[in-house]
Amino acid sequence: MLLAPVLFLFASSIRIASGDDWCYQSQVTCSHNCTGPELWGIVSQHCNGRHQSPVNIVTRRMLLDERLTSFHFTRYQEAFHGRLLNNGHTVQLDLPSSIKIKGGNLAVQYKAIQLHLHWGVDGGPGSEHTIDGEQFPMEMHIVHIKEEYNSLSQAVRDSTGVAVLGFVFEESKSANKKFDPLINALKNITQPGNSTTLESVSLEMFTPPQKNMTKYLRYNGSLTTPGCAEAVVWSLFENTVPLSRKQLAAFSHLQFSNGEQMVKTFRPLQPLNGRQVYYSGGHAALVSTVLLIMSVLVSLMNECPLMIV
Ligand SMILES: *[C@@H]1O[C@H](CO)[C@@H](O)[C@H](O)[C@H]1NC(C)=O
Ligand SMILES: *[C@@H]1O[C@H](CO)[C@@H](O)[C@H](O)[C@H]1NC(C)=O
Ligand SMILES: *[C@@H]1O[C@H](CO)[C@@H](O)[C@H](O)[C@H]1NC(C)=O
Ligand SMILES: *[C@@H]1O[C@H](CO)[C@@H](O)[C@H](O)[C@H]1NC(C)=O
Ligand SMILES: *[C@@H]1O[C@H](CO)[C@@H](O)[C@H](O)[C@H]1NC(C)=O
Ligand SMILES: [Zn+2]
Repeated sequence: MLLAPVLFLFASSIRIASGDDWCYQSQVTCSHNCTGPELWGIVSQHCNGRHQSPVNIVTRRMLLDERLTSFHFTRYQEAFHGRLLNNGHTVQLDLPSSIKIKGGNLAVQYKAIQLHLHWGVDGGPGSEHTIDGEQFPMEMHIVHIKEEYNSLSQAVRDSTGVAVLGFVFEESKSANKKFDPLINALKNITQPGNSTTLESVSLEMFTPPQKNMTKYLRYNGSLTTPGCAEAVVWSLFENTVPLSRKQLAAFSHLQFSNGEQMVKTFRPLQPLNGRQVYYSGGHAALVSTVLLIMSVLVSLMNECPLMIV
């Protein structure tokens, strides 16, 4: 409690110094001039909440929920053209609201607003969610809001206002040609604020190939960037999206606003705090191969001299 005002003053000065609202850990330098994940609670108090994302999924603690039926995807296969934007934190593709999902034990139909990605360095570990400690090279979030809302900011006031479909990626030997339109466009949007239009793409191009997407995990959590609103019904799919190392590495050529490589665009893991993770019926055993010691990662990310405490 005593620490709160100190932290507040501390973070205020950082924000003045950086002129940016928040940044990822990879952007925090030892001079602490941008607001990294440990201080996002000052950008938005929700980031200090008890139902935050991402989380590590411990598969042996998951429970089967038979109500997690398959989704009904509307216009996932239809071509659209959409703006692809470097927003300074990630690459975002705006989606037409005619794209919708229902089923999957969602209470109502949700409409798509955008998708974006989280990645590492040159194809190294970069997903936000981890499964039994394994961090995947990339993670895609397709963000949907309840049909009744007009914007994300409206939807986040409802504890189930947002439905995010999460897909983790795996490195493949050969390139995933369906991703080339997006990857080729990255070189046109190197700097924050740059955008371009993707002509004739469909969500089917970006989701796991030849998969019916019936196997997924479900839990209640938050947006993984400030304001961190606890308004997200998460669905994480078991099927992965394959990309070659070179395709994965292309994302590392984007730039943050300070001109540095846009890399490690993922939030550190958040505690479950008693939340239960469920899995859908007809689910095969989740294969978890590599056990990554998260503490190693955390210690690598905190190599600057400790300033608080
Ligand atoms: C943060 O500090 C580093 C090292 O002092 C400097 O190179 C960088 O430009 C600063 N970034 C911002 C956003 O002020
Ligand atoms: C990228 O920029 C080049 C050169 O300006 C242009 O010819 C090309 O159509 C652009 N591609 C995309 C996908 O924006
Ligand atoms: C990207 O943004 C920078 C900075 O605003 C600008 O100078 C550059 O021309 C933009 N590039 C493209 C391809 O639009
Ligand atoms: C999805 O695929 C699995 C195996 O590939 C199959 O057993 C299942 O019946 C399929 N479900 C639907 C709804 O097509
Ligand atoms: C998520 O929260 C809603 C609303 O409180 C609740 O009905 C639902 O059972 C929760 N789902 C999970 C997976 O915990
Ligand atoms: Zn995301």
